[in-house]
Amino acid sequence: MHIFEDPSFFESLSTQECQRTDEALGLEVNQIELDLLSKARALMPMGDVTSWGKSLHEAQSWVGLHPQTLLTPYQELAWMCECVKDQSGHVVDLGAGYGRLGIVMQEKLPLAFYTGVEIVKQRVDEGNRVFEKLHCEKARLIAADLASSSYELPLGDCYFIYDYGTLDHIRWTMGQLQNLSDIHRFQIVARGAGIRSLIDMAHPWLHKMENPHEAYFSLYQTHLT
Ligand SMILES: C[S@@+](CC[C@H](N)C(=O)[O-])C[C@H]1O[C@@H](n2cnc3c(N)ncnc32)[C@H](O)[C@@H]1O
Repeated sequence: MHIFEDPSFFESLSTQECQRTDEALGLEVNQIELDLLSKARALMPMGDVTSWGKSLHEAQSWVGLHPQTLLTPYQELAWMCECVKDQSGHVVDLGAGYGRLGIVMQEKLPLAFYTGVEIVKQRVDEGNRVFEKLHCEKARLIAADLASSSYELPLGDCYFIYDYGTLDHIRWTMGQLQNLSDIHRFQIVARGAGIRSLIDMAHPWLHKMENPHEAYFSLYQTHLT
């Protein structure tokens, strides 16, 4: 089921229009981020965006960051969907925020499945509420800490990582993905300077793929096929 009449709706959105699109979809991003910020400020009045998230979630949850910086713009998410090779596969979003990617996939990859893993329960609950409202039946968000040694990554055909947390946590996740690559092939879509340089410098088991949107994100795959 399409969310908008124009299936290319998300591709034509400027970054400035993303906030209005959240509102149109019913995603209460601004209110939830403000609530998180006021909780963090009460705990740590002299804190800032580098410390507030850690005080609430024992991870870098980026509380206090402007929501439109925290989240990947809809237009880029639509471009990423065009780069996914397995159109009916499982896309796993590591540090998923509100699961915007799951909503865009409803239009761009209607046969694929989406799992977003996110540590902040309020974001998970809000994203799942909107998935239900929009009938995104193949999308779900899970509340979990990616950095916990007891957490096993879901098996995916494509993983999306946008500099989700501390460098140590991202390194841990990359180690887990490397282990998974022994049993399964997959793509990685990497957004953000931290994850892209980490992969380029420390993960030669991944091959960089050609990508018309290299200025925005990088694409990798486990095997040259
Ligand atoms: C930069 S945001 C990206 C959100 C989304 N992927 C996007 O591009 O729109 C990173 C998200 O990762 C989450 N995160 C940080 N550390 C985490 C952890 N250890 N486990 C799970 N999620 C985490 C943060 O709370 C935040 O919502």
